[in-house]
Amino acid sequence: MTSIPFTATDFRHALSQFSTGVAVITAPRGPLAAYGMTANSFTSVSLDPFLTLVCVDQRSHLLPLLKQGKYFGVNVLKAGQQQISVYFAQSEQTSEAEAKLGIRYRWTQAGIPLLEDTIAQIVCRVVASYIAGDHTIFLGEVQSADLFPGEPLVFFRSHYRELAPRP
Ligand SMILES: Cc1cc2nc3c(=O)[nH]c(=O)nc-3n(C[C@H](O)[C@H](O)[C@H](O)COP(=O)(O)O)c2cc1C
Repeated sequence: MTSIPFTATDFRHALSQFSTGVAVITAPRGPLAAYGMTANSFTSVSLDPFLTLVCVDQRSHLLPLLKQGKYFGVNVLKAGQQQISVYFAQSEQTSEAEAKLGIRYRWTQAGIPLLEDTIAQIVCRVVASYIAGDHTIFLGEVQSADLFPGEPLVFFRSHYRELAPRP
């Protein structure tokens, strides 16, 4: 068992035992230009009203976009989309690179970019934000959710996994 002194590495290891799905949080960064950030902190918060949250690093390029904008997209990745997760975990994002990876957006009427070919595409309205250490928690009220067939991409102990069917 690890006890005090508890380092950042210990913290990472401990939290990485909790398996999650992988989402890409999307927001507009100009007319028909999108920015995405891979996130596994996406969580359901409340059923009444329908609230979710996502934690965003203070240094992330997504942070000012969520502060300015009223809405964001949550795109749940499916099995086999590791490359898309890796792509949206870096800030160098170009239409050429996206074309190579087969990344396509659809735009909602409110001007929110959503990623095609994902298993869930959810639009949230930012209702609150809270600074929490080196991240900001954005509380989002769900406006719409489109669901599609497929298996999820899973993140566990800092590695990508896929669900195995029960033996
Ligand atoms: C699987 C995975 C999950 C991540 N989850 C989060 C998250 O919940 N919040 C966050 O701020 N960064 C998260 N990151 C890191 C960001 O994706 C990454 O640091 C960021 O997109 C880098 O872009 P930036 O230059 O805009 O900061 C995650 C990365 C990976 C690979």
